[in-house]
Amino acid sequence: MYSHVGENLSVSALVVDGDLHLRVGDTQVDIAAIWLRDSCPCPESRGVGNGQKLFNIVDLPADTQVERVRIVGRNVEVEFSPDGHRGVFDVEDLIAADAPPRLADARSESAKRLWRKASEVSPLQWSAWSDYLADPAPALRAVVDEGFALLTGVPTELGQVVAVAETFGFVRKTNYGTIFDVRVEENPVNLAFTGLAISPHTDNPYRDPVPTLQLLHCIHNSTVGGESGLVDGFAAAATLREKDPRAFDILTSTPVTFRFDSADAHLSTVAPMITLDHSGRICEIRFNNRSMVAPRLEPDVSREFYNAYRTFAELLYAPDAQLNFQLDAGDCLIFDNTRLLHARTAFAATGGRHLQGTYADLDGLLSALHIHEEN
Ligand code: FE2
Repeated sequence: MYSHVGENLSVSALVVDGDLHLRVGDTQVDIAAIWLRDSCPCPESRGVGNGQKLFNIVDLPADTQVERVRIVGRNVEVEFSPDGHRGVFDVEDLIAADAPPRLADARSESAKRLWRKASEVSPLQWSAWSDYLADPAPALRAVVDEGFALLTGVPTELGQVVAVAETFGFVRKTNYGTIFDVRVEENPVNLAFTGLAISPHTDNPYRDPVPTLQLLHCIHNSTVGGESGLVDGFAAAATLREKDPRAFDILTSTPVTFRFDSADAHLSTVAPMITLDHSGRICEIRFNNRSMVAPRLEPDVSREFYNAYRTFAELLYAPDAQLNFQLDAGDCLIFDNTRLLHARTAFAATGGRHLQGTYADLDGLLSALHIHEEN
């Protein structure tokens, strides 16, 4: 059958081997009857108002077929057999269902703007706190695209970093507390709480799930040194894949243990240093020389693993890969802890440098970004 939708859009629908064949303009799709039945938006199938599904797969006949179709305006009416169920589908929704919803797939390298050199994200974009509160979308978008956002003029009250996280999501409390203080401590459980230089790393790779976002808020800083640095781990992994595919394969397939022990915590996770998603795209980096426990492998395999590890580290530690900046009082850094590595230069133990940090998660940030960008 044949009809017209919208102004110039021709639409036709046919039953082919019990499935739906739909043509809209130049676009043609074949849609399995069982998918269509499972996706039926009628009030018998979906909760009114929340859209949640009211049945289970076992409630549908295994031999579901499309029996009849009819185009009515912008919709296609479908009658199914053998249960005689009827559903009305928006034609454009059926075509659009081929593409994943925006931001649903925002975690892998394909959703990012990779930066292989610090110069590619320079000069830095700072968002004033008041502008951010009026419209958080540009900074949240930067966390998705570049992996980080920088706020300035954030009130320097203790605990304010939680308020920053709550503008887009929820804090992740850990054994370090809701907030952790990054300053020189007398008996540090972690080298972060000393004045030592810290080389590029991701945080908490020993945790499952790993905190996907980190926030660092500067309360005051009157020291010399203590510069913060960021490196794009996805970009370095992509470079490794181009230049040394064998090393890339080793680091994506060798499970490594990450471990943290203190008086009140014993945490360990086994994961590769570079994680790929179901489509083979880079989606998570775990890199932390302080907490990695190298796997005990056969000597030949071990040498290969160490060569791959060294090659990746050299890319991550390349001076032009690292973006350096000073966090001053009122500055707050938000970054993707699954992608970016962070570092800091040494600073004087006697000087005054006090950062407060917290962890949060990307799913909340993506949800907030979706809502801000839609409105
Ligand atoms: Fe860290």
